[in-house]
Amino acid sequence: MKLETNKIRNFCIIAHIDHGKSTLADRILEYTNTIEKREFRQQVLDSMELERERGITIKSKAIRINYLARDGKQYILNLIDTPGHVDFSHEVSRSLIACEGALVVIDATQGLQAQTISNIYLARENKLRIIFVINKIDMKNADVNSVKEELANTYGFKNAPCFLVSAKEGTGIPELLEGIVKYIPPPEASNVKNDFRALIFDSSFDAYRGVIVYLKVISGIVKKGDIVEFISNKKEFEVSEVGIFRLKMEERKSLTCGEVGYLSANIKNLSDVRIGDTIVSNLSPVKEPIPGYKEAKQMVFSAIYPVESRHYPALREALDKLSLNDPSFTYEPESSPSLGSGFRCGFLGPLHMEIIQERLEREYNLDLISSAPSVCYRIKMRGKTVFIDNPAKFPPPQEVERTEEPFVRLKIFSPDEYLGRLTKLCKERRATHLSTDYPDPRQVVIISEMPVSEIIVDFHNIVKSITRGYGSVDYKDIGYRETKIVRLDILLNGERIDALACIVPREKAYERGRALVLKLKEVIQRQQFPIAIQAAIGGNVIARETIRAFRKDVTEKLYGGDVTRKKKLLEKQKHGKKRMKILGKVKVPQEAFLA
Ligand code: GTP
Repeated sequence: MKLETNKIRNFCIIAHIDHGKSTLADRILEYTNTIEKREFRQQVLDSMELERERGITIKSKAIRINYLARDGKQYILNLIDTPGHVDFSHEVSRSLIACEGALVVIDATQGLQAQTISNIYLARENKLRIIFVINKIDMKNADVNSVKEELANTYGFKNAPCFLVSAKEGTGIPELLEGIVKYIPPPEASNVKNDFRALIFDSSFDAYRGVIVYLKVISGIVKKGDIVEFISNKKEFEVSEVGIFRLKMEERKSLTCGEVGYLSANIKNLSDVRIGDTIVSNLSPVKEPIPGYKEAKQMVFSAIYPVESRHYPALREALDKLSLNDPSFTYEPESSPSLGSGFRCGFLGPLHMEIIQERLEREYNLDLISSAPSVCYRIKMRGKTVFIDNPAKFPPPQEVERTEEPFVRLKIFSPDEYLGRLTKLCKERRATHLSTDYPDPRQVVIISEMPVSEIIVDFHNIVKSITRGYGSVDYKDIGYRETKIVRLDILLNGERIDALACIVPREKAYERGRALVLKLKEVIQRQQFPIAIQAAIGGNVIARETIRAFRKDVTEKLYGGDVTRKKKLLEKQKHGKKRMKILGKVKVPQEAFLA
């Protein structure tokens, strides 16, 4: 069958977390028989073990659907399911560049949430046609009219196409598919005959085929045997395979203008491929990059070290491979007197940090120690300005003239009854309040400016618990503001431990120092000698605790009982030991670094 560009629809599904994107994708795949019954399982596109365990989407996932529309014509729909959490918004923005349209899913029981709004803006910036999908209409407390009203009155979407769906029960799916064909424009057809040009929006690594490049063809055609060139580094490769995404990758003879698919070319050097780069035919006279890709901006930094230093090369390779699959984190080698050789990594947010660390451990079988998250501070010293994301490198107080922290404009969406407690939380987190808005009578949006360092530790969870799960948070970087901060050092038996240093607001230094010392006392096990834990600013010790000597017998709380239980506990203790670092003479467990 000859592929006609006007029969292609490229779209992504975007939404706030848990509003039902992956379930909607399931129903679309089921209705169009894209996946055979025996291959089907819930949230089928969330294929990563971690995604299934946590019930969240981490990676965007593309899949091609054949759809016979009511007009009797056969269409090709390229669906990209995206993550909903703010920390993965770079995944979303990368997916958008491969699309002409977006389904914005809204949970009818929750209405518009923080990520819904920021996703709508993202889609608009990328000039995508938006279709609203009001989901979960099967639920008793679904309130379709308020969602429609909010869309029309608060956000000005009076005439946008809007479909009512229950992704769980499959209601409204046939109408939605017709809507996709009708409202989402096909890719531009005028480019079919030009030279091959494509935009790289993702990539992965395969042990046999090398780097697999995920691309959207912007013009021309590409097939096996063609010579292609990456614009950023001018490197040429011979294409060994092209294909499309079904549940797995499926080889095709060629990819033409408008299609989303993959290409491999025996690329073994991971650094040759850069997401966002343009790939062209080597014969093409036009070698200009296609615009659209935005670099990610890291907000949270942490050090990652292998527990055993001989695993450093393995960690390096794992980071290289993982960054092909997620270009939004950064890593740079660093060394620490107490931890040895490792990497300082930058992440988009705390959940992103957690997920990357967990993927490194699971997918690459590594045991890692990571430091507490930090942000990148701007420090003015005599004659120079430095950026510090590693607390151990924070200059001594006498050399510092002015300290600045990165800030965000923060929006908290919540039912209005929690306004008081949320305002109090913001105040405790050093926020400057800007406004309180009511997009609809029951919902409040609190807007404030807050240091990034205050949202990277447990802020989302606390908002969730205050609002019984109904609140949501979104933020945008607004640059640096002056604040008073100091470095808090931790000393174990008089020795300064660089990996445990942290940067804190001066007014909270005593309180934090005290809390930290107590927490460390709790997590560091007794050893054969006493351990003094001190917190200090410059030369001043501000808190101190001592751990008495002696080995903790983990089985002491067992009175008799089954021997297998005792073995299990000892086994657990052994495993716990693996994740410890010996600092000076003191064995310190992973929890201490996050304390
Ligand atoms: P992330 O990918 O983590 O952002 O979540 P998501 O938007 O993909 O949501 P997901 O599809 O995982 O659905 C979240 C929860 O809502 C799941 O427990 C679904 O079973 C449920 N759900 C989704 N659609 C419907 C629906 O139409 N009706 C009902 N009752 N539940 C639904």
